[in-house]
Amino acid sequence: MTDLIDRADVERVLRDPRFTVPEASAEARRPMGRLRSGASRFANGSTHERRRAHLVDLLGLLDARRLEADAAARTRALVAGTPRARLDVPGIARTVPVACLAGQLGFAEPDEAPRLVAEAAEAYANGTESDAADEAVLRLLATAPRRAGGDADGVGHDNDAELRVQLLVQAYAATAALVEGAMRRVATGAATATTAELLEATLRDDPPVRLTRRVDPDGAVVVLRFDGADRDSGRGRPPRTLAFGAGSRACPARATAVAIAGAIVEEVRAC
Ligand code: HEM
Repeated sequence: MTDLIDRADVERVLRDPRFTVPEASAEARRPMGRLRSGASRFANGSTHERRRAHLVDLLGLLDARRLEADAAARTRALVAGTPRARLDVPGIARTVPVACLAGQLGFAEPDEAPRLVAEAAEAYANGTESDAADEAVLRLLATAPRRAGGDADGVGHDNDAELRVQLLVQAYAATAALVEGAMRRVATGAATATTAELLEATLRDDPPVRLTRRVDPDGAVVVLRFDGADRDSGRGRPPRTLAFGAGSRACPARATAVAIAGAIVEEVRAC
């Protein structure tokens, strides 16, 4: 396995269509395996494009102002009465984004979603099998919105419920890590920075997702790091930010993630 570290090399590979993602097995029968094999994240070619287009439509349904307001209100409720030094920032970061997204994506029990997604996230990322992850996926699918005869809100896809669950799982660890990284910067001296500056610096210097993988044209797996040096930086030119990836598979939810994380960080800093 090759590791690419310099951000210039990593970006080149991310933008090169000859490099594909390792695919989920189409033979999977267990619930998590089926979720992975139905996701955009582990598919290539036209299947990826079709699923990604649907995810982009779903993200287009989200109202950023309402998400921010919901994230702020949920954070205020969780911090209420707790001294700053005893705040459970990781707990807030792992709960609020998924609950807000589940609410706007029409899940029947948004407050339950963070616990279920937490059960599912690791197995989704690395393909391991676990009964707890399977149960969580089944519960999430059961609470996803469905209408007889098709999609829930006018954006049709045969895989609609699974792709809504994919959005929650993709959001979970990465958005939490952004909130935690930004709060670490506050604790270690960046107390006067604006929240937007904190998020920008965290994304550049302490990326929430550290790496991804691609398969090269010869079939070898390549590890692509988002946190390495950038040989094109220097002399007033900061390293490029690759936190959301690049190219045709870049995170489609950058604005959503930054809006939610920003609202949470603002509330935690105000407490
Ligand atoms: C700070 C928070 C986030 C970070 C750093 C992040 C990062 C990433 C990265 C690096 C990728 C591309 C992986 C690759 O190329 O192999 C990705 C893909 C993806 N992200 Fe995010 N993400 C974040 C939040 C979110 C949120 C909030 C959502 C959903 C609401 C989301 C949905 C997705 C989806 C669906 C994909 C797969 C896209 C595809 O298959 O083409 N992400 N994300």
